[in-house]
Formats: sequence, structure tokens, C-alpha cells
Amino acid sequence: MRTPLVIGNWKMHGTVAEAKVLAGAIREGLRRPRGVQVVVCPPFTALAAVGELLAGGPILLGAQTCHHEAAGPHTGEIAPPMLVELGCRYVLLGHSERRKEIGESDELINRKVRAALAHGLTPVLCVGETADERRQGLTFTTVEGQLRAGLAGLTPDQTVKAVLAYEPVWAIGTGVNATSGQAAEVHGYLRGLVAELASKDIAQAVRILYGGSVKAENVEGLVAEAEIDGALVGGASLNAPGFITIVKKAARGGAASKE
Ligand code: 13P
Repeated sequence: MRTPLVIGNWKMHGTVAEAKVLAGAIREGLRRPRGVQVVVCPPFTALAAVGELLAGGPILLGAQTCHHEAAGPHTGEIAPPMLVELGCRYVLLGHSERRKEIGESDELINRKVRAALAHGLTPVLCVGETADERRQGLTFTTVEGQLRAGLAGLTPDQTVKAVLAYEPVWAIGTGVNATSGQAAEVHGYLRGLVAELASKDIAQAVRILYGGSVKAENVEGLVAEAEIDGALVGGASLNAPGFITIVKKAARGGAASKE
């Protein structure tokens, strides 16, 4: 059975001081999360401080991207070993904001995925269609291309270590989430592709998160779908009580099983 996973993507929000307050509140509110794993991804500048605060506890640290090489003349970039040194265990890759704003290609994202795995980081490969692509009936074509390219060259052993995130671009930061049915349909499709690329067993083991306007009010309906293994949360992860509620609702068995 797949353990639900909730990831808070803080994006470009918060000073180090603010990040420490947020992380501290989340730590206090989730001292012993049961039936769920929790990751927070602060901005690079706050990774060290948040990492220190969370060290030894159940909430894991993630980064929002990384470079595909271990070191070198790449001004402004951050290499996987640097993230590992700060205690990162996860790294988001292929987020639509980076695809769009920075122009990250599928090929570059694939190099990052492979670099993350090579350095012991869990890559969270994000895929998702734009509103136009959905209107044109290109949802499956788009996510299939992104998934196949993102996982290219991975062995089945590596594929099983990756996390996938379906984030429809039209749902990110808009307040309009995909319905449970819309998300489950795409998740099922992605899982079928993983079965084809790796194996049926691996497809059953890989976690596929949903992201895009997840909040305390809609998370239960989303994770109630068998295909949805948790949430990648943007805006709502910046508010500690709200994020804590989301985590509790996403836990296996729901809020009732949590303390
Ligand atoms: P929102 O939750 O703010 O819609 O952002 C989703 C997201 O992009 C998480 O990576």
C-alpha cells in the first residue's frame, strides 16, 4: 500500500526568519504524523535554517529544483550534493513555473531527475497540461510526453524511487482545482504509462501526487480517489494551521486517525 505524501512548495516566499516561524509551527502541529509523510520545500536561502529546525524529526526537507551536474562553472545554480549536505531528501523537478519562466525543457528535466537519483535525492517529477491543451483534447498527449521524457533512461529500480506529481497548469494558484474525477483520470493514465515503462509492480508502488489549488476544503475529496496518493501544495502550505489540516486530512484513514 502506498503511504500518502504531502509536500509543501513554498515557492519564492519568505525570509529566513519567516521560514523558521512557519517550519516551527508545522513541526509543533505535526509531531507524530501517522499514515502520511510530510515534506516542506523552502526557498534555497532558508534550507539550512529549516533543515536545522526539522533535523531528526518526521518532517523531511526538499528543494524546489537543482542543477544536473555535481559541480562546475554554473553561476547561480545549486548542485544536488549541496542540497544533500543541508539535509534535503527530496527535490521538485519540472515544475510548470520553471518550464514556463526559465524555459526548462523535458530533456533538461530528465538530466536533473537522473542527477537527483544519482545523489540519493528523491525527484518529484511534475507534469501537467495548460488550459489550452486541455481545451484542445491534448491533456493525455502532454502529460505522456512529459512523463516519458522525464523518466527516460531510468532503470526500473530508479523509477520506483521517483515521485510523480500531476499539476494541471490551469489549476495552479487559480483557486480552481481539478475535480477528483479529472485528477484520478490522469493519475490512472500516468500509472499505466509507468507500468509500460517499468513494470506493473513498480507502477503500483510509485506515488502520484495531485497539485493545483489544494486546500483544507478540497483535499479529502481528492485523496479519497485510490489513484491520488497525496498532494503537492503551493499557496496553502504557507499557512501553518491550514497546511497541518491538509496533512491530517490526507493521512490514511483521514483526520480521525491523527493526533
Ligand atoms: P497552488 O497550491 O498555490 O495552486 O500551487 C500548486 C503548486 O504549484 C505546487 O507545486
